[in-house]
Amino acid sequence: MTIEKVDFYYFSGTGNTLLVVEKMEETFKKNGVDVELHKIEDSDPLKINLEQTIGIAFPVVILSTYHFVSDFIHSLPPTNGTKIFMVDTLGGVSGGIVGPLREIVKKKGYNPIGAKEIQMPLNIFYVEDEKTNQKKVQKGLNEAHKYALTILNGESEWGRVPVLSDAINLISRGALKLADADFHQKLFIFDPEPEKCRKCGICVELCPVGNIQMADDEYPKHGLNCEYCLRCVSLCPRHAMPARFNYKGKTYRAVKAKEIMH
Ligand SMILES: Cc1cc2nc3c(=O)[nH]c(=O)nc-3n(C[C@H](O)[C@H](O)[C@H](O)COP(=O)(O)O)c2cc1C
Repeated sequence: MTIEKVDFYYFSGTGNTLLVVEKMEETFKKNGVDVELHKIEDSDPLKINLEQTIGIAFPVVILSTYHFVSDFIHSLPPTNGTKIFMVDTLGGVSGGIVGPLREIVKKKGYNPIGAKEIQMPLNIFYVEDEKTNQKKVQKGLNEAHKYALTILNGESEWGRVPVLSDAINLISRGALKLADADFHQKLFIFDPEPEKCRKCGICVELCPVGNIQMADDEYPKHGLNCEYCLRCVSLCPRHAMPARFNYKGKTYRAVKAKEIMH
């Protein structure tokens, strides 16, 4: 199977998925394949180039993924055989999200050539020590490299676990709906600590769904549309946004804010 160019669409909250995408980009390029990276949050699915191979990358979230990532995939235009592959990163268990996604893209006429789930450090609830996380990142990037090679030599696969993965996907959608509810959003709203926050506005720029506003000389304020990607919490240069649901408030980031924003 010849691949000349990959248009790689990705979302990354705290940097794990970005590192995986960059590793795969490096491997593709070393093998003569042109790669263009696109942020899902800035991309219009209807404008993708159906002549190229499409890559999709995202983190696993409550056994599924973020709404705007799902919406992007659901809104891909119909086609006739455009090659598509996906990769997700996760801290533990995915629930088999690759299965339902395969059905969606297949129904639209894509040729699903590969799917891979790559373990990376968990970025929520319990953040492990730096050495352990570094090891996980190295292992994950090694897998990303190997996965990119299997895509190039035609050996990658996009399997599915019927029924079970569909059932888990349904449960996950229920949990995500709960996370959207106003009462949940108010209960877990992120608030900066005034003694640490310098009102630099980086969190406003980082938020992929425009949920953070900052009026002149005010502290940043979250609305009620948080997707809990943790960018604002984990990438704040002054750690001014407390991670209330993380053990001992410890945060994780694989990259710095400017690398996510470039
Ligand atoms: C709100 C939220 C929910 C998550 N749910 C899951 C999950 O269900 N299963 C899992 O294995 N990891 C879960 N994770 C961990 C992330 O998928 C994992 O750390 C991922 O590599 C983060 O990628 P990123 O740094 O590109 O955002 C969750 C993380 C967040 C922030």
